[in-house]
Amino acid sequence: MPRHFLMCRPDHFAVEYAINPWMHPEAGSDRDLAVRQWEGLKAVYESLGHQVSLIDPIEGLPDMVFAANGALVVGGRVYGASFAFPQRVPEGPAYLRWFAERGFETLQATHVNEGEGDFLALDDVILAGTGFRTDRAAHHEAQEFLGRPVVSLSLVDPRFYHLDTALFPLDGRNVAYYPGAFSAGSREVLRWLFPDAVLATALDAEVLGLNAVSDGSHVVINSEAGDLQLELKRRGYEVIPVELSELRKAGGGPKCCTLEIRGEN
Ligand code: ARG
Repeated sequence: MPRHFLMCRPDHFAVEYAINPWMHPEAGSDRDLAVRQWEGLKAVYESLGHQVSLIDPIEGLPDMVFAANGALVVGGRVYGASFAFPQRVPEGPAYLRWFAERGFETLQATHVNEGEGDFLALDDVILAGTGFRTDRAAHHEAQEFLGRPVVSLSLVDPRFYHLDTALFPLDGRNVAYYPGAFSAGSREVLRWLFPDAVLATALDAEVLGLNAVSDGSHVVINSEAGDLQLELKRRGYEVIPVELSELRKAGGGPKCCTLEIRGEN
């Protein structure tokens, strides 16, 4: 089944501030390389038959390339993002406007949430992270608006500040995750829901290997996540490694650059 993704070209990408432990503004970053790496990711999606739509990047919003944070779209309904840090706040309305202009039903969130950074939709349930960015109250707000059960999970390691840095859906029913990113109670919930999950090592997690995108048969994943790639191949997935080292300097990987549009309006 082809997917529909929204992406944002990193024309204004830079590491100008530090709002997560990956970001070191003093170390600099290479925008041209970021654009080339991002083009590579987009080309991979297109080669797999997925549709990619684009939102115009806005000058002064260096993190706007991380489209996953812009919203959560389920069944053609768009739950808008409301960013935790002032540097990214203007991205929320920009993404919401993109959807509103195309006739989607949208909701401007009243609670802080960073879209698919902290919400990951499976067939029957939406997994939602909290602890660093998204307010737990947003989990309930999303549930009531989207009409899907939302399961709250607590993130405890600041390196894995968004749920999508610690877990990704393999398909509608199973996930891969790094247990060390979650509280003891949330680890128990994940074991209960996903007894057959792929468990990633600390090394895989430290190269943002969990920030991957699976369409159920292909997994687009950071090239450095070696053990995780082997395990995914062993489970029958076709693994497509991508090089996004420049975007990782802002704390992002393939999934961060990708907002899934589920269920057209
Ligand atoms: N610099 C961005 C931030 O800290 C990175 C966002 C990564 N996005 C994601 N979906 N994890 O907000």
